[in-house]
Amino acid sequence: MVKKQKIEINHLSHNYNLNNNELLVLDNINLIIKSQEFVIILGPSGCGKSTLLRMIAGLEQPSNGSIQVNGHEITKADPSRVVVFQDPTLYPWLTVWDNVNLGYKIRKEKNDQAVQSMLELIGLENFKSAYPHQLSGGMAQRVALARALVNDPSILILDEPLGKLDSLTRITMQKELVHLWRKRQFTGIMVTHDIEEALLLATRIIVMRQRPAHIIGEFRLNMSYPRHRDSEELIKIRKDIFHLLGHQSDW
Ligand SMILES: Nc1ncnc2c1ncn2[C@@H]1O[C@H](COP(=O)(O)OP(=O)(O)OP(=O)(O)O)[C@@H](O)[C@H]1O
Ligand SMILES: [Mg+2]
Repeated sequence: MVKKQKIEINHLSHNYNLNNNELLVLDNINLIIKSQEFVIILGPSGCGKSTLLRMIAGLEQPSNGSIQVNGHEITKADPSRVVVFQDPTLYPWLTVWDNVNLGYKIRKEKNDQAVQSMLELIGLENFKSAYPHQLSGGMAQRVALARALVNDPSILILDEPLGKLDSLTRITMQKELVHLWRKRQFTGIMVTHDIEEALLLATRIIVMRQRPAHIIGEFRLNMSYPRHRDSEELIKIRKDIFHLLGHQSDW
């Protein structure tokens, strides 16, 4: 699988038809994501972030404009681009092990060692025989993340992947995400509502305005990892982001 993947979004706009009314969701998005960047998108609820991610995944086609990967238009989903959805979509009839192993099974491959170490990483090795209905929301989200990562994607698309985790597990998973991204060298595109999370993880933060989503700010973070939330640089960027999103950060 080609690891170096550059994503180019050009003049992308999108309308939905909602009860016979046109709903403009994305308004002229232009963005280039270089290979092995970790780009995080912030923006108000309902502005169009998930819609944009679904288009990068190839699950939906834009009304106007284009998205290309290495110069090729995205027209359908591809195993090189793996998505972790906002609500984990595990197969209820498969055990945790079989859910994580699914990609290998479909490709008629076997890599029990990879599945086992991924389950250990997310702390669920004792639940490998459990079914999704026997898991908590946070556990299910960790399984969905493991199922994505075990396939070694070259582009990993994450839609609020840590939203359902308790704060301590969330910190552990944030560290693991950075660790895996550096080790596996995938290109990461993630949406979160947590500005701290974006500051600790991203190489670049994109801020979008209220629907129709349009990019209103962009911040490059050249600091090394692990980052410290009280570093002066991060405090300044946090303030600027709050300001862009229409809030004061001094509370
Ligand atoms: N299939 C659809 N048909 C019609 N409208 C849709 C569809 N999917 C999403 N929308 C609308 O598009 C807008 C953007 O939705 P989207 O899920 O992309 O927002 P979001 O930025 O991810 O929000 P959140 O942060 O709450 O997850 C919303 O107003 C939503 O109602
Ligand atoms: Mg969303």
